[in-house]
Amino acid sequence: MSEAMRNGIQSRRSIRQFTPEPVAPELLRELVDTARWAPSHCNTQAIRFIVVDDPALRRRLVEHGCAQVIERAPQGILVLAADNSDNLEYRPHYQSAAAAIQNLCLYAHAHGLATCWIIHLPRPRVIRRLFGIPRSWIPIAYVAVGRPSAEPQPVERKFDLDEVLAFNRYPWGRDGWRKPYFRIVARKLYYLLPVRLKRRLEEWINRRFVRQFDN
Ligand SMILES: Cc1cc2nc3c(=O)[nH]c(=O)nc-3n(C[C@H](O)[C@H](O)[C@H](O)COP(=O)(O)O)c2cc1C
Repeated sequence: MSEAMRNGIQSRRSIRQFTPEPVAPELLRELVDTARWAPSHCNTQAIRFIVVDDPALRRRLVEHGCAQVIERAPQGILVLAADNSDNLEYRPHYQSAAAAIQNLCLYAHAHGLATCWIIHLPRPRVIRRLFGIPRSWIPIAYVAVGRPSAEPQPVERKFDLDEVLAFNRYPWGRDGWRKPYFRIVARKLYYLLPVRLKRRLEEWINRRFVRQFDN
C-alpha cells in the first residue's frame, strides 16, 4: 500500500460539525461514482444512493428519531441495498453497502470533504415511506456530507496490532463484549412512540442516550 493511501486512511475522521456551504453537485456525483466501484456480493452492484439536500426532509428524519448531525450537514447520501440475498448468516447486502460507503468516505476525505457514517436512523419502514422506497430495498446508512468547520484531532487506535491479529486460531478467550439487551428493547420502544412525543423528547434523548463526540 502506498504511503499516501495509508495516510489517507489513517487521517480520515467522522466529522459532525460542518460549514453551511453545500458541496457542488459534480463532486457529490464523483463520491457516488467512486462508491459504486466497491466490491459487491456476487458482483450484483445492487446499491443505490439518494442525495438528500432538502432540509425539510432532514428535519423529518430527526423528528422520527435519528442522529442530529444529519441536520448540521448541508447534504447527505442515503445508501440502500437490494434485499436480494439468500445468505442470511452473513448478510452480504450489508457488507457490500459498507464497502461502498467506505469508498465514498475515503474519496470525500481525499477531496477535503467531511463525512459522518450514520445508522442512528428512524426505522427502515419510516425511511421507506419518507423517500418512497419499495420494500425490496433496505436503507443501510446515511452519510452526512459537507465541509468540516474545524480540523479534527487525530485519534489513536484502541488496540495495538498484536491485540487484534491472530493466525490460524482464535486466541482471545471470552472477551468483555456483551449483547446490550436493555438498550435493544429501549430502542424498539422508542421507535414506537408517536412523532409528536419524539419531537418533545428529542433534546433529552440526545443528552441522555446518544453518545456525544467532540468533532
Ligand atoms: C456502521 C457505523 C455506524 C455509525 N453510526 C454513527 C451514528 O449513527 N452517529 C454518529 O455520530 N457516528 C456514527 N458512526 C461513526 C463512528 O462513531 C466513528 O466511526 C467512530 O467513533 C470512530 O471515529 P472515526 O470515524 O473518526 O475514526 C458510525 C460508524 C460506522 C462504521
